Amino acid sequence: MHQMLPQSPIAKQDLSRIIPETLEQYRDRGGYQGLLRAIDLGPQAVRAQIRESELRGRGGAAFPTYLKWQALVDATGDKYLVVNGAEGEPGAFKDRFLMTAAPHQVLEGIQISGFALGVKDVIFYINDQFQEAITALNGALAEMASMQWAGDSRLGFSVTLVPESHVYIAGEETALISVLNGGPAQPWRKPPYPTTQGYQGQPTAVNNVETMAHVALVLRNSPEWYKAYRPALFSVDGDVARPGVYELPLGTSLQDLLTQAGGDDIQRVLPGGYSMPWIEPEDYQIALDYSVLKEHGSGLGASIICIGGFRDLSIVVNEIMTFFARETCGKCPLCARGTKMLAEMLTPRGSLLTPGEAEQIVLKAQKYRHKGICTYMDTAVHMAEMAVPSLT
Ligand SMILES: Cc1cc2nc3c(=O)[nH]c(=O)nc-3n(C[C@H](O)[C@H](O)[C@H](O)COP(=O)(O)O)c2cc1C
Repeated sequence: MHQMLPQSPIAKQDLSRIIPETLEQYRDRGGYQGLLRAIDLGPQAVRAQIRESELRGRGGAAFPTYLKWQALVDATGDKYLVVNGAEGEPGAFKDRFLMTAAPHQVLEGIQISGFALGVKDVIFYINDQFQEAITALNGALAEMASMQWAGDSRLGFSVTLVPESHVYIAGEETALISVLNGGPAQPWRKPPYPTTQGYQGQPTAVNNVETMAHVALVLRNSPEWYKAYRPALFSVDGDVARPGVYELPLGTSLQDLLTQAGGDDIQRVLPGGYSMPWIEPEDYQIALDYSVLKEHGSGLGASIICIGGFRDLSIVVNEIMTFFARETCGKCPLCARGTKMLAEMLTPRGSLLTPGEAEQIVLKAQKYRHKGICTYMDTAVHMAEMAVPSLT
């Protein structure tokens, strides 16, 4: 049963044909009941509901939403909520589809979150290439403005959509705030955390678009319902017959998802896009769940990329490393050098690495671990460590 999307799955190729859900349609399926409930409960009780729901952020790091919110509430100053609609990860399109198909689902979550956090304003950063999503959100914002009981004046803050020309690293929360503050798309070393010093130097919670949609679900139903259902959006891409956005419970087996998406001859699956190590066929029964994947040395992220059996893995690995080398922001020279070095060492070769080459690559890569301001270089190191045995 799907709750976040008006239908599931939404096929990837249908983006231009998606007709955004209207306010009326959204209300027919319980939309904005969560906001009404939140207003009745009050901010503190709403935050307690989010704690009880055990909601984790859907931007990739799976950070408990309640903890981030509490840090914001405990900070002093004008508070801001920044919604992260960057979605620059290869193979990821769940946020883009969600914003386009169900803009009110996202906006209801934003309204509830802003209310629960007592924010001055909500800044909604969105990749300016997502034209369909921007149109859908603007339409929904206009519809919402006509709602007396949920309009800006009642809640005391506005939601400002900020389309930005996007580069991958700008999706990282500190880089994103830097861009919004008029600076370069580069992260900063934490602390300070955005929850104490972020947008305009003020305490800021950065939350992913899908996380916002989940907030609406928790308040519409209940934390107990949410924990039992455990909804998630999976963006499935690569060599499958039916790429698309699938709304399924966390804990669904990878094999089940592959079957639904039509992935018959898949030699590797990246369950967290380029940011997480891949899964091999003997482990396809694994549950798509944070803790299970973590134990396995991998994790969930923004996309699920399926690599068909016909592909040369060395070419795939080289493409991933070339992506890292191209997209590094260059602020940390070690990251700029390290990603380039890995792209050069892990060339498409058609033949295998010798044991000596393999050892060299892993040893050199590991020297770069934990040296950057953000986790970008660590991701590339991880990917190299995982890929080398398959190429040996
Ligand atoms: C290189 C890099 C790129 C990222 N890109 C995105 C992105 O496109 N969208 C997103 O929501 N989070 C992205 N993140 C994660 C954000 O830093 C942040 O954890 C997230 O927006 C927090 O929201 P959540 O707690 O609701 O998941 C990225 C992180 C890194 C290191």
